[in-house]
Amino acid sequence: MPNKIDVEIEEKHKSYPIYMDTEPIEDLKERIIKDFDLKNYLVVISEKVYKLYGKILGFDSNEIFILKDGEIQKNFKNYQKIIQCCEKKGLNRKSALIAIGGGVVGDITGFAASTYMRGIKFIQVPTTLLACVDSSVGGKVAIDTDYGKNLVGAFYQPHAVYINLQFLNTLDEIQYKSGLAEVVKYAFIEKSCGARFDFGLFDFLSVHSSKILDKDLRFVEKVIKVCIELKIAVVSKDEKEAGLRKILNFGHTYGHALEKISNYKTFTHGEAVAYGMHYIFNYAHKLKMIDANYKEMAVTLLHKFGFYNKTFKYPTDKIINIMKNDKKAEDNVIKVILPMMKGYVKEGDLDIQAALNCD
Ligand code: GLY
Repeated sequence: MPNKIDVEIEEKHKSYPIYMDTEPIEDLKERIIKDFDLKNYLVVISEKVYKLYGKILGFDSNEIFILKDGEIQKNFKNYQKIIQCCEKKGLNRKSALIAIGGGVVGDITGFAASTYMRGIKFIQVPTTLLACVDSSVGGKVAIDTDYGKNLVGAFYQPHAVYINLQFLNTLDEIQYKSGLAEVVKYAFIEKSCGARFDFGLFDFLSVHSSKILDKDLRFVEKVIKVCIELKIAVVSKDEKEAGLRKILNFGHTYGHALEKISNYKTFTHGEAVAYGMHYIFNYAHKLKMIDANYKEMAVTLLHKFGFYNKTFKYPTDKIINIMKNDKKAEDNVIKVILPMMKGYVKEGDLDIQAALNCD
């Protein structure tokens, strides 16, 4: 029996199940079709995943749209092509768009699903760790524009998420590590998420880092479940990011700026977020928001997961300038999520003078 977690959104009709299992991948197609009684659908699948699993998944070639990999593909042209495919196939409001891949595939497919005929069914099959713990849950869907990431999008909850841990077996190390950065993020924000249980993720990650890095699926499964529970705790209270949900952006404002300044070529998303978390711990320590002990613990945890193997020379003032243009910035005030103590964070304004000297 698969594990099932229910995501309860305040507006009840938006609630949905997340299934998590290791059942054969070849059963997935039949299961999704049966669960939703689907007559017509389009699968948007990552090229990489298609090469590895296309045959096993068993979708016909006229049922799929293959999306090349990379953030650069999350663009208007591909969005338009997906919509044209939906039209050609005659998809209607009873039909579904099924995303099989990582965050890029999930985001663009979700955006297409949210806009085609004002919204059709959207089913997520995340195949990367990052998509399992973050992007496939919570309903943020978007495409990028020349001005930045995710600038055109919507909050559109999926109708179901099917996580199959077997996809992770073939995930390359770089993408796996990118997901781990989001996992570590949850350790830094856990207590502020307001979940029903104290999972002790910080200590769990500290103790079991090598098993997790080795992709021991028993440990990875636990970690994914905890992260999903934490994300659900946040999203169910604040779907549209009016308040609490902002804490999920811990490390992201700096991280997004780093991705942008390097033209999305040098860092994976997770890696950039890891640098962002490191930066904000330095900043918070400098401004005496956290003590040296917590900063040390946090940096040690980041090191355990092997971040920081790239040196870069982007001037901090340029990075901060990009942060000013982040869609979360308000009237030139840079809003950031700040660490307070182990597992706790809060939103605050970045003191730009102090931030300039915090590498
Ligand atoms: N990835 C941040 C969020 O879902 O709000």
